[in-house]
Amino acid sequence: MTFLSATLDRVKPSPTIAVTTKAAELKAAGRDIIALGAGEPDFDTPQNIKDAGIAAINSGKTKYTAVDGIPELKQAICAKFARDNALTYTPAQVTVGTGGKQVLYNAFMATLNKGDEVIIPAPYWVSYPDMVLLAGGTPVTVAASLDTSFKITAAQLEAAITPKTKWFLFNSPSNPTGAGYSWDELKALTDVLLRHPHVWVMTDDMYEHLAYGDFKFCTPAQVEPALYDRTLTVNGVSKAYAMTGWRIGYAAGPEPLIKAMRKVQSQSTSNPCSVSQYAAIEALNGTQDFLAPNNDMFVRRRDLVVDMLNTAQGIVCPRPEGAFYVYPSIADCIGKTTAAGTLIDNDEAFATALLEETGVAVVFGAAFGLSPNFRVSYATSDDALKQACQRIIDFCAKLS
Ligand SMILES: Cc1ncc(COP(=O)(O)O)c(C=O)c1O
Repeated sequence: MTFLSATLDRVKPSPTIAVTTKAAELKAAGRDIIALGAGEPDFDTPQNIKDAGIAAINSGKTKYTAVDGIPELKQAICAKFARDNALTYTPAQVTVGTGGKQVLYNAFMATLNKGDEVIIPAPYWVSYPDMVLLAGGTPVTVAASLDTSFKITAAQLEAAITPKTKWFLFNSPSNPTGAGYSWDELKALTDVLLRHPHVWVMTDDMYEHLAYGDFKFCTPAQVEPALYDRTLTVNGVSKAYAMTGWRIGYAAGPEPLIKAMRKVQSQSTSNPCSVSQYAAIEALNGTQDFLAPNNDMFVRRRDLVVDMLNTAQGIVCPRPEGAFYVYPSIADCIGKTTAAGTLIDNDEAFATALLEETGVAVVFGAAFGLSPNFRVSYATSDDALKQACQRIIDFCAKLS
């Protein structure tokens, strides 16, 4: 009999955290490291939001709250869904957790039985398959391709659905590719789902506000109102408001599902941090003025990175619609050898050699379920990005 749970054999530790840790170790050892692995904005939480948190502390809002969120925050979330997504929810249809991650996890724990399948487009956010496995379900990945800018097609979705499919997990704009589905592209997917009434939709809208140029964010229940009764719309304040450390995520959906998710949370973490809940009210109800200038900055960085990486030998880098990631393909680098003599036989070898030989930390594509690629997070300064891209260009030029 082993001491540790057999469940843990099914999951792996987060590879994004592993890369960040390795880069930090090398930096501490005195190496010149540029880390492009982070999954969070590089700017500070806006002052009005911090002030709301400080005011909450000073007025004693420091005790347990209702398990899945205070009424004022649920009200602010309902107002946000009405304002941004034309979706009508009542507070009883809303749940608040410790980050979007907990909300997604609650939903899987509340609904998955052994054998239940969850369709996950790849490349995917690293945690999705492992969360499904921890909850006892079976992840079914559907690989998007470079040719379709990392978006899956209606035919692919149709082919992946079986009688055991419980959820279709949707994420746009995407981590790790930044790909965002247009209204028509999403409608093609929701049309498929209309034909399969046993399949529910979990949509992770975490990067909603990080949408650039002509791209307009849209979400499944908005594009196809007939799916409203079987859609869980997940969102949070982490990315748009630079509040990753505050740990507030939320979701809205059918009341029985929300109740079941609350039950999971009531027997695990109870309420999300009381102070953070008050700060999140300010994030949602307060000024949104900083979003546009931040997005201008992200567009500039995206273009800088895409333009530079596309000059690197063996790299093809699509220009995505949102988030703060790009996901270049390195298919033409595979089989080559680096200046230091390392064979690049897969994307993990590429990322490891890149870190060791140039000090640039990226996350290899296999971690996200689609290879050979790597993920760059461009949530860092223009200078760091320019330097990092130049090092990647030089690294690729020396491959033989
Ligand atoms: C696609 C996606 N969903 C959810 C999350 C989790 O967000 P939170 O920090 O609110 O738990 C992340 C964070 O990296 C993400 O990239």
